[in-house]
Amino acid sequence: MDRILIRGGATLKGEIDISGAKNAALPLMCAGILTEGVLKLRNLPHLADIDTMAKLLQQLGVAISVEDGPMATSPQTGTFSTKAITDYTAPYELVRKMRASILVLGPLVARCGKAKVSLPGGCALGTRPVDLHIKGLQQLGAEIDLQDGYIHASAPNGLRGAEIFFPVVTVTGTENLLMAACLAKGETRLINAAREPEVTDLAECLVKMGAEISGIGTGTLVIQGKESLNGADHAIVADRIVAGTYAMAAAITHGEVELIGARVEHIQSVISYLEQVGVSVSKTEDGLFVKRSGADIRGVDITTEPYPGFPTDMQAQAMALMCLANGASVINETIFENRFMHVPELCRLGANITVNGTVATVRGVAELHGAPVMATDLRASVSLVLAGLAAKGETIVSRIYHLDRGYDHVEQKLAACGASIERLKAAA
Ligand code: EPZ
Repeated sequence: MDRILIRGGATLKGEIDISGAKNAALPLMCAGILTEGVLKLRNLPHLADIDTMAKLLQQLGVAISVEDGPMATSPQTGTFSTKAITDYTAPYELVRKMRASILVLGPLVARCGKAKVSLPGGCALGTRPVDLHIKGLQQLGAEIDLQDGYIHASAPNGLRGAEIFFPVVTVTGTENLLMAACLAKGETRLINAAREPEVTDLAECLVKMGAEISGIGTGTLVIQGKESLNGADHAIVADRIVAGTYAMAAAITHGEVELIGARVEHIQSVISYLEQVGVSVSKTEDGLFVKRSGADIRGVDITTEPYPGFPTDMQAQAMALMCLANGASVINETIFENRFMHVPELCRLGANITVNGTVATVRGVAELHGAPVMATDLRASVSLVLAGLAAKGETIVSRIYHLDRGYDHVEQKLAACGASIERLKAAA
Protein backbone atom coordinates (compact mmCIF):
# COMPACT_ATOMS: atom_id res chain seq x y z
CA MET A 1 0.00 0.00 0.00
CA ASP A 2 1.20 3.52 -0.80
CA ARG A 3 2.37 5.81 1.96
CA ILE A 4 2.99 9.55 2.15
CA LEU A 5 6.27 11.00 3.48
CA ILE A 6 6.19 14.56 4.83
CA ARG A 7 9.18 16.55 6.05
CA GLY A 8 7.51 19.16 8.24
CA GLY A 9 8.27 22.83 8.72
CA ALA A 10 7.57 24.38 5.31
CA THR A 11 5.31 27.43 5.15
CA LEU A 12 2.64 27.02 2.46
CA LYS A 13 2.41 29.83 -0.05
CA GLY A 14 0.54 29.79 -3.37
CA GLU A 15 -2.75 28.77 -4.98
CA ILE A 16 -4.77 25.55 -4.78
CA ASP A 17 -7.56 24.66 -7.22
CA ILE A 18 -10.60 23.30 -5.39
CA SER A 19 -12.16 20.38 -7.27
CA GLY A 20 -15.82 19.42 -7.56
CA ALA A 21 -17.37 18.09 -4.36
CA LYS A 22 -17.17 14.30 -3.85
CA ASN A 23 -20.38 14.38 -1.80
CA ALA A 24 -22.21 16.19 -4.58
CA ALA A 25 -20.74 14.13 -7.44
CA LEU A 26 -21.83 10.81 -5.90
CA PRO A 27 -25.59 11.53 -5.70
CA LEU A 28 -25.46 13.45 -9.01
CA MET A 29 -24.02 10.38 -10.76
CA CYS A 30 -26.91 8.33 -9.33
CA ALA A 31 -29.39 10.91 -10.68
CA GLY A 32 -28.38 9.61 -14.12
CA ILE A 33 -30.46 6.51 -13.36
CA LEU A 34 -33.61 8.65 -13.32
CA THR A 35 -33.55 9.54 -17.02
CA GLU A 36 -33.16 7.96 -20.46
CA GLY A 37 -31.55 11.25 -21.47
CA VAL A 38 -27.88 12.13 -21.22
CA LEU A 39 -26.74 13.71 -17.97
CA LYS A 40 -23.47 15.63 -18.41
CA LEU A 41 -21.57 16.38 -15.18
CA ARG A 42 -18.64 18.82 -15.35
CA ASN A 43 -16.00 19.39 -12.65
CA LEU A 44 -15.88 15.69 -11.70
CA PRO A 45 -12.97 15.20 -9.26
CA HIS A 46 -10.37 12.43 -9.79
CA LEU A 47 -11.23 10.29 -6.77
CA ALA A 48 -11.35 6.60 -5.92
CA ASP A 49 -14.96 6.95 -4.74
CA ILE A 50 -15.99 8.40 -8.11
CA ASP A 51 -14.40 5.41 -9.86
CA THR A 52 -16.17 3.00 -7.49
CA MET A 53 -19.53 4.65 -8.12
CA ALA A 54 -18.94 4.58 -11.90
CA LYS A 55 -18.25 0.82 -11.74
CA LEU A 56 -21.46 0.23 -9.80
CA LEU A 57 -23.56 2.33 -12.18
CA GLN A 58 -22.10 0.56 -15.23
CA GLN A 59 -23.09 -2.78 -13.64
CA LEU A 60 -26.67 -1.45 -13.45
CA GLY A 61 -26.70 -0.52 -17.13
CA VAL A 62 -25.66 3.12 -17.06
CA ALA A 63 -23.47 4.00 -20.05
CA ILE A 64 -20.66 6.28 -18.86
CA SER A 65 -18.03 8.20 -20.79
CA VAL A 66 -15.43 10.42 -19.15
CA GLU A 67 -13.23 12.98 -20.84
CA ASP A 68 -10.15 14.33 -19.10
CA GLY A 69 -9.38 18.02 -18.69
CA PRO A 70 -6.33 19.73 -20.23
CA MET A 71 -4.00 18.71 -17.39
CA ALA A 72 -3.68 15.52 -15.33
CA THR A 73 -4.98 17.40 -12.30
CA SER A 74 -7.84 19.10 -14.19
CA PRO A 75 -11.38 17.99 -13.35
CA GLN A 76 -13.10 15.59 -15.74
CA THR A 77 -16.43 15.72 -17.56
CA GLY A 78 -18.62 12.66 -17.37
CA THR A 79 -21.74 11.74 -19.34
CA PHE A 80 -24.26 9.28 -17.90
CA SER A 81 -26.94 7.69 -20.05
CA THR A 82 -29.41 5.06 -18.87
CA LYS A 83 -31.42 3.75 -21.81
CA ALA A 84 -32.55 0.84 -19.63
CA ILE A 85 -31.64 -0.66 -16.28
CA THR A 86 -30.14 -4.09 -16.96
CA ASP A 87 -29.44 -5.05 -13.34
CA TYR A 88 -30.88 -3.66 -10.14
CA THR A 89 -28.44 -5.12 -7.61
CA ALA A 90 -25.81 -3.17 -5.68
CA PRO A 91 -23.62 -6.00 -4.34
CA TYR A 92 -22.08 -6.19 -0.86
CA GLU A 93 -18.53 -6.18 -2.29
CA LEU A 94 -19.08 -2.68 -3.67
CA VAL A 95 -21.37 -1.25 -0.99
CA ARG A 96 -19.03 -2.22 1.86
CA LYS A 97 -16.23 -0.35 0.06
CA MET A 98 -18.30 2.77 -0.31
CA ARG A 99 -21.42 3.45 1.76
CA ALA A 100 -22.59 6.09 -0.71
CA SER A 101 -23.60 3.18 -2.99
CA ILE A 102 -26.84 3.30 -1.00
CA LEU A 103 -27.68 6.31 -3.20
CA VAL A 104 -28.71 4.00 -6.06
CA LEU A 105 -31.61 2.70 -3.94
CA GLY A 106 -34.09 5.55 -4.41
CA PRO A 107 -33.37 6.14 -8.11
CA LEU A 108 -33.60 2.40 -8.95
CA VAL A 109 -36.97 1.97 -7.22
CA ALA A 110 -38.25 5.15 -8.86
CA ARG A 111 -36.98 4.24 -12.34
CA CYS A 112 -37.67 0.52 -12.57
CA GLY A 113 -39.78 -0.34 -9.54
CA LYS A 114 -37.24 -2.55 -7.84
CA ALA A 115 -33.82 -2.62 -6.20
CA LYS A 116 -31.63 -5.06 -4.31
CA VAL A 117 -29.05 -3.07 -2.40
CA SER A 118 -26.69 -4.46 0.21
CA LEU A 119 -27.07 -2.96 3.65
CA PRO A 120 -23.89 -0.87 4.05
CA GLY A 121 -23.09 -2.22 7.50
CA GLY A 122 -21.13 -0.11 9.94
CA CYS A 123 -17.92 1.75 9.26
CA ALA A 124 -15.07 3.26 11.25
CA LEU A 125 -17.31 6.20 12.21
CA GLY A 126 -20.01 4.09 13.81
CA THR A 127 -23.14 2.04 13.11
CA ARG A 128 -24.43 4.47 10.47
CA PRO A 129 -27.91 3.03 10.04
CA VAL A 130 -30.00 3.59 6.91
CA ASP A 131 -33.36 3.13 8.63
CA LEU A 132 -34.55 6.58 7.53
CA HIS A 133 -33.81 5.81 3.87
CA ILE A 134 -35.89 2.62 4.18
CA LYS A 135 -38.74 4.18 6.16
CA GLY A 136 -39.02 7.06 3.68
CA LEU A 137 -39.21 4.69 0.72
CA GLN A 138 -41.92 2.71 2.49
CA GLN A 139 -43.85 5.95 2.98
CA LEU A 140 -43.55 6.51 -0.79
CA GLY A 141 -45.22 3.13 -1.27
CA ALA A 142 -42.27 0.77 -1.75
CA GLU A 143 -42.40 -2.72 -0.23
CA ILE A 144 -39.14 -3.35 1.65
CA ASP A 145 -37.83 -6.73 2.75
CA LEU A 146 -34.51 -7.01 4.62
CA GLN A 147 -33.01 -10.40 3.89
CA ASP A 148 -29.49 -11.89 3.75
CA GLY A 149 -27.96 -8.48 4.41
CA TYR A 150 -29.77 -6.90 1.48
CA ILE A 151 -32.53 -4.34 1.12
CA HIS A 152 -35.07 -5.81 -1.30
CA ALA A 153 -37.30 -2.97 -2.47
CA SER A 154 -40.16 -3.12 -4.92
CA ALA A 155 -42.83 -0.74 -6.17
CA PRO A 156 -44.51 -2.52 -9.09
CA ASN A 157 -47.15 0.19 -9.38
CA GLY A 158 -44.66 3.03 -9.00
CA LEU A 159 -44.18 5.39 -6.05
CA ARG A 160 -46.69 7.90 -4.74
CA GLY A 161 -45.97 11.19 -2.96
CA ALA A 162 -45.97 11.39 0.84
CA GLU A 163 -45.01 13.68 3.70
CA ILE A 164 -41.73 12.44 5.20
CA PHE A 165 -40.34 13.81 8.45
CA PHE A 166 -36.69 13.16 9.29
CA PRO A 167 -36.21 12.85 13.09
CA VAL A 168 -32.47 13.15 12.42
CA VAL A 169 -30.95 15.26 9.63
CA THR A 170 -29.54 12.78 7.12
CA VAL A 171 -27.66 13.93 4.02
CA THR A 172 -27.85 10.81 1.86
CA GLY A 173 -31.25 9.98 3.32
CA THR A 174 -32.53 13.33 2.02
CA GLU A 175 -30.82 12.76 -1.33
CA ASN A 176 -32.17 9.23 -1.80
CA LEU A 177 -35.74 10.26 -1.12
CA LEU A 178 -35.45 13.52 -3.07
CA MET A 179 -34.46 11.55 -6.18
CA ALA A 180 -37.17 8.94 -5.63
CA ALA A 181 -39.84 11.62 -5.12
CA CYS A 182 -39.04 13.22 -8.51
CA LEU A 183 -40.73 10.24 -10.25
CA ALA A 184 -43.41 9.55 -7.64
CA LYS A 185 -47.06 10.32 -8.43
CA GLY A 186 -48.20 13.50 -6.68
CA GLU A 187 -46.57 15.72 -4.08
CA THR A 188 -43.84 14.75 -1.61
CA ARG A 189 -42.78 16.95 1.31
CA LEU A 190 -39.41 16.26 2.96
CA ILE A 191 -39.43 17.87 6.39
CA ASN A 192 -36.25 18.49 8.41
CA ALA A 193 -34.34 17.74 5.21
CA ALA A 194 -30.57 18.19 5.09
CA ARG A 195 -29.52 21.63 3.84
CA GLU A 196 -25.92 20.77 2.92
CA PRO A 197 -24.76 22.54 -0.29
CA GLU A 198 -24.37 19.12 -1.89
CA VAL A 199 -28.10 18.48 -1.37
CA THR A 200 -28.85 21.88 -2.92
CA ASP A 201 -26.55 21.11 -5.86
CA LEU A 202 -28.41 17.83 -6.46
CA ALA A 203 -31.79 19.58 -6.28
CA GLU A 204 -30.65 22.26 -8.74
CA CYS A 205 -29.47 19.59 -11.19
CA LEU A 206 -32.76 17.67 -10.84
CA VAL A 207 -34.65 20.87 -11.70
CA LYS A 208 -32.50 21.22 -14.83
CA MET A 209 -33.59 17.63 -15.64
CA GLY A 210 -37.24 18.71 -15.43
CA ALA A 211 -38.04 17.98 -11.78
CA GLU A 212 -40.35 20.35 -9.91
CA ILE A 213 -38.81 21.12 -6.50
CA SER A 214 -39.47 24.06 -4.18
CA GLY A 215 -37.79 25.04 -0.90
CA ILE A 216 -34.32 24.30 -2.27
CA GLY A 217 -31.72 25.25 0.36
CA THR A 218 -34.25 25.07 3.18
CA GLY A 219 -35.17 22.27 5.59
CA THR A 220 -38.46 21.64 3.76
CA LEU A 221 -38.33 20.34 0.19
CA VAL A 222 -41.58 20.01 -1.77
CA ILE A 223 -41.49 17.86 -4.90
CA GLN A 224 -44.23 17.50 -7.53
CA GLY A 225 -43.52 14.11 -9.13
CA LYS A 226 -43.14 13.78 -12.92
CA GLU A 227 -43.65 10.92 -15.37
CA SER A 228 -40.03 11.15 -16.51
CA LEU A 229 -36.96 13.39 -16.41
CA ASN A 230 -34.65 14.58 -19.18
CA GLY A 231 -30.90 14.83 -19.50
CA ALA A 232 -29.08 18.00 -18.41
CA ASP A 233 -25.66 19.65 -18.32
CA HIS A 234 -24.49 20.49 -14.79
CA ALA A 235 -21.26 21.75 -13.23
CA ILE A 236 -20.65 20.16 -9.83
CA VAL A 237 -20.32 22.57 -6.91
CA ALA A 238 -16.81 23.09 -5.46
CA ASP A 239 -15.89 20.88 -2.51
CA ARG A 240 -16.34 22.94 0.67
CA ILE A 241 -14.64 20.30 2.84
CA VAL A 242 -11.57 20.14 0.59
CA ALA A 243 -11.49 23.98 0.62
CA GLY A 244 -11.75 24.00 4.42
CA THR A 245 -9.02 21.39 4.65
CA TYR A 246 -6.52 23.42 2.64
CA ALA A 247 -7.47 26.52 4.65
CA MET A 248 -6.41 24.58 7.76
CA ALA A 249 -3.18 23.60 5.94
CA ALA A 250 -2.36 27.28 5.41
CA ALA A 251 -3.18 28.01 9.06
CA ILE A 252 -1.13 25.17 10.56
CA THR A 253 1.97 26.05 8.48
CA HIS A 254 1.86 29.83 9.13
CA GLY A 255 1.20 30.14 5.40
CA GLU A 256 -0.95 32.05 2.97
CA VAL A 257 -2.92 30.26 0.27
CA GLU A 258 -5.58 31.25 -2.25
CA LEU A 259 -8.27 28.58 -2.68
CA ILE A 260 -9.39 28.91 -6.29
CA GLY A 261 -13.04 28.06 -6.85
CA ALA A 262 -13.94 27.88 -3.14
CA ARG A 263 -17.47 29.09 -2.39
CA VAL A 264 -17.31 31.40 0.65
CA GLU A 265 -21.03 31.08 1.30
CA HIS A 266 -20.66 27.31 1.77
CA ILE A 267 -18.03 27.41 4.52
CA GLN A 268 -19.11 30.36 6.66
CA SER A 269 -18.90 28.27 9.83
CA VAL A 270 -15.31 27.26 9.06
CA ILE A 271 -14.35 30.82 8.11
CA SER A 272 -15.81 32.18 11.33
CA TYR A 273 -13.93 29.52 13.31
CA LEU A 274 -10.62 30.35 11.61
CA GLU A 275 -11.10 34.06 12.33
CA GLN A 276 -11.76 33.27 16.03
CA VAL A 277 -8.56 31.19 16.06
CA GLY A 278 -6.56 34.11 14.67
CA VAL A 279 -6.33 33.34 10.96
CA SER A 280 -7.44 35.94 8.43
CA VAL A 281 -9.79 34.87 5.62
CA SER A 282 -10.89 37.11 2.77
CA LYS A 283 -12.98 36.64 -0.34
CA THR A 284 -11.16 37.07 -3.67
CA GLU A 285 -12.42 37.27 -7.23
CA ASP A 286 -11.52 33.60 -7.75
CA GLY A 287 -12.31 32.19 -4.31
CA LEU A 288 -10.84 32.58 -0.85
CA PHE A 289 -7.50 33.88 0.56
CA VAL A 290 -6.37 32.40 3.87
CA LYS A 291 -3.40 33.86 5.78
CA ARG A 292 -2.01 32.97 9.19
CA SER A 293 -1.02 36.38 10.43
CA GLY A 294 -0.04 36.16 14.11
CA ALA A 295 2.57 33.81 15.59
CA ASP A 296 0.01 32.27 17.93
CA ILE A 297 -3.39 30.73 17.33
CA ARG A 298 -6.01 30.57 20.04
CA GLY A 299 -7.73 27.41 21.27
CA VAL A 300 -11.40 27.62 20.23
CA ASP A 301 -14.12 25.11 21.13
CA ILE A 302 -16.03 23.25 18.38
CA THR A 303 -19.41 21.52 18.27
CA THR A 304 -20.15 19.73 15.01
CA GLU A 305 -23.66 20.23 13.61
CA PRO A 306 -25.65 19.71 10.41
CA TYR A 307 -25.24 22.51 7.84
CA PRO A 308 -24.88 25.45 8.25
CA GLY A 309 -23.15 24.51 11.53
CA PHE A 310 -19.53 23.42 11.81
CA PRO A 311 -19.19 20.33 9.56
CA THR A 312 -18.32 16.98 11.13
CA ASP A 313 -16.18 16.39 8.03
CA MET A 314 -13.94 19.25 9.19
CA GLN A 315 -13.59 18.09 12.80
CA ALA A 316 -10.40 16.05 12.40
CA GLN A 317 -8.70 18.81 10.41
CA ALA A 318 -9.57 21.47 13.00
CA MET A 319 -8.32 19.17 15.74
CA ALA A 320 -4.93 18.95 14.04
CA LEU A 321 -4.74 22.75 14.08
CA MET A 322 -5.80 22.92 17.75
CA CYS A 323 -2.89 20.61 18.69
CA LEU A 324 -0.61 23.65 18.25
CA ALA A 325 -2.93 26.30 19.69
CA ASN A 326 -2.06 28.56 22.59
CA GLY A 327 -4.64 27.19 25.02
CA ALA A 328 -7.21 24.39 24.99
CA SER A 329 -10.07 23.44 22.67
CA VAL A 330 -13.04 21.26 23.60
CA ILE A 331 -14.36 19.43 20.52
CA ASN A 332 -17.85 17.95 20.74
CA GLU A 333 -18.65 15.51 17.90
CA THR A 334 -22.44 15.31 17.80
CA ILE A 335 -23.00 13.59 14.42
CA PHE A 336 -21.08 10.30 14.65
CA GLU A 337 -20.47 8.19 17.71
CA ASN A 338 -16.89 7.24 16.89
CA ARG A 339 -15.14 9.95 14.92
CA PHE A 340 -11.97 10.30 16.99
CA MET A 341 -9.76 7.59 15.42
CA HIS A 342 -7.28 10.31 14.51
CA VAL A 343 -6.69 11.11 18.21
CA PRO A 344 -4.23 8.29 19.09
CA GLU A 345 -2.36 8.96 15.84
CA LEU A 346 -2.09 12.70 16.56
CA CYS A 347 -0.86 11.81 20.07
CA ARG A 348 1.94 9.76 18.44
CA LEU A 349 3.10 13.08 16.96
CA GLY A 350 3.17 14.62 20.45
CA ALA A 351 -0.33 16.08 20.69
CA ASN A 352 -2.02 16.32 24.10
CA ILE A 353 -5.61 15.13 23.59
CA THR A 354 -7.99 13.33 25.93
CA VAL A 355 -11.30 11.81 24.84
CA ASN A 356 -14.37 11.37 27.00
CA GLY A 357 -17.20 9.83 24.95
CA THR A 358 -18.00 12.18 22.12
CA VAL A 359 -15.95 15.05 23.59
CA ALA A 360 -12.23 15.51 22.96
CA THR A 361 -10.14 18.05 24.88
CA VAL A 362 -7.08 19.29 23.02
CA ARG A 363 -4.42 21.09 25.03
CA GLY A 364 -2.07 22.95 22.69
CA VAL A 365 1.62 22.03 22.74
CA ALA A 366 4.60 24.05 21.52
CA GLU A 367 5.53 21.63 18.80
CA LEU A 368 4.76 18.25 17.20
CA HIS A 369 7.41 15.70 16.21
CA GLY A 370 7.23 13.55 13.08
CA ALA A 371 6.54 9.81 13.40
CA PRO A 372 4.97 6.93 11.43
CA VAL A 373 1.16 7.15 11.73
CA MET A 374 -1.79 5.25 10.26
CA ALA A 375 -4.84 6.59 8.47
CA THR A 376 -8.16 5.09 9.61
CA ASP A 377 -10.75 7.00 7.58
CA LEU A 378 -10.92 9.75 4.99
CA ARG A 379 -10.85 12.88 7.15
CA ALA A 380 -8.64 11.34 9.83
CA SER A 381 -6.05 10.65 7.12
CA VAL A 382 -5.92 14.25 5.98
CA SER A 383 -5.69 15.52 9.58
CA LEU A 384 -2.49 13.45 9.91
CA VAL A 385 -1.12 15.07 6.75
CA LEU A 386 -1.89 18.51 8.19
CA ALA A 387 -0.15 17.67 11.47
CA GLY A 388 2.81 16.24 9.54
CA LEU A 389 3.18 19.51 7.62
CA ALA A 390 3.73 21.33 10.93
CA ALA A 391 5.65 18.62 12.83
CA LYS A 392 9.41 18.76 13.19
CA GLY A 393 11.07 15.94 11.26
CA GLU A 394 9.58 13.21 9.12
CA THR A 395 6.02 11.86 9.25
CA ILE A 396 4.99 8.82 7.25
CA VAL A 397 1.24 8.27 6.82
CA SER A 398 0.26 4.70 5.90
CA ARG A 399 -3.05 3.31 4.51
CA ILE A 400 -3.51 6.45 2.42
CA TYR A 401 -6.10 4.70 0.26
CA HIS A 402 -8.42 6.42 2.72
CA LEU A 403 -7.00 9.77 1.60
CA ASP A 404 -7.34 8.97 -2.11
CA ARG A 405 -11.09 8.52 -1.63
CA GLY A 406 -11.65 12.22 -1.08
CA TYR A 407 -8.58 14.25 -2.01
CA ASP A 408 -7.30 14.33 -5.57
CA HIS A 409 -3.59 14.98 -6.18
CA VAL A 410 -3.11 16.08 -2.58
CA GLU A 411 0.68 15.73 -2.58
CA GLN A 412 1.03 17.61 -5.89
CA LYS A 413 -1.19 20.45 -4.68
CA LEU A 414 0.64 20.82 -1.36
CA ALA A 415 4.11 20.44 -2.93
CA ALA A 416 3.24 23.19 -5.42
CA CYS A 417 2.78 25.49 -2.41
CA GLY A 418 6.14 24.57 -0.92
CA ALA A 419 5.43 21.49 1.22
CA SER A 420 8.02 18.75 1.33
CA ILE A 421 5.70 15.84 0.64
CA GLU A 422 5.93 12.78 -1.57
CA ARG A 423 4.10 9.52 -2.20
CA LEU A 424 6.08 6.35 -1.42
CA LYS A 425 4.71 3.84 -3.92
CA ALA A 426 4.13 0.34 -2.54
CA ALA A 427 6.55 -2.24 -3.93
CA ALA A 428 4.80 -3.80 -6.91
C1 EPZ B 1 -22.95 12.14 4.54
O1 EPZ B 1 -22.97 10.85 5.08
C2 EPZ B 1 -21.55 12.33 3.99
N1 EPZ B 1 -21.29 11.35 2.94
C3 EPZ B 1 -20.53 12.18 5.12
O2 EPZ B 1 -19.25 12.46 4.58
C4 EPZ B 1 -20.84 13.21 6.20
O3 EPZ B 1 -19.95 13.03 7.28
C5 EPZ B 1 -22.29 13.03 6.68
O4 EPZ B 1 -23.19 13.12 5.56
C6 EPZ B 1 -22.69 14.09 7.69
O5 EPZ B 1 -22.56 15.36 7.11
C7 EPZ B 1 -21.81 11.58 1.71
O6 EPZ B 1 -22.48 12.56 1.46
C8 EPZ B 1 -21.48 10.56 0.65
P1 EPZ B 1 -26.01 11.17 7.55
P2 EPZ B 1 -24.40 10.19 5.49
O7 EPZ B 1 -27.02 10.24 7.02
O8 EPZ B 1 -25.47 10.70 4.63
C9 EPZ B 1 -27.83 9.17 11.41
C10 EPZ B 1 -17.00 12.14 4.19
O9 EPZ B 1 -16.06 12.25 4.98
N2 EPZ B 1 -28.70 8.42 10.49
O10 EPZ B 1 -26.19 12.62 7.32
O11 EPZ B 1 -24.19 8.72 5.59
C11 EPZ B 1 -26.38 8.76 11.30
O12 EPZ B 1 -26.11 7.63 12.13
C12 EPZ B 1 -18.26 11.43 4.62
O13 EPZ B 1 -17.03 12.64 3.04
C13 EPZ B 1 -29.69 7.59 11.02
O14 EPZ B 1 -29.83 7.46 12.24
O15 EPZ B 1 -24.60 10.76 6.95
C14 EPZ B 1 -25.63 9.98 11.76
O16 EPZ B 1 -25.58 9.98 13.18
C15 EPZ B 1 -18.09 10.76 5.96
N3 EPZ B 1 -30.49 6.90 10.16
C16 EPZ B 1 -26.53 11.13 11.31
O17 EPZ B 1 -27.80 10.55 11.01
C17 EPZ B 1 -30.37 7.01 8.80
O18 EPZ B 1 -31.16 6.37 8.07
C18 EPZ B 1 -26.04 11.84 10.07
O19 EPZ B 1 -25.79 10.85 9.09
C19 EPZ B 1 -29.37 7.87 8.29
C20 EPZ B 1 -28.56 8.56 9.15
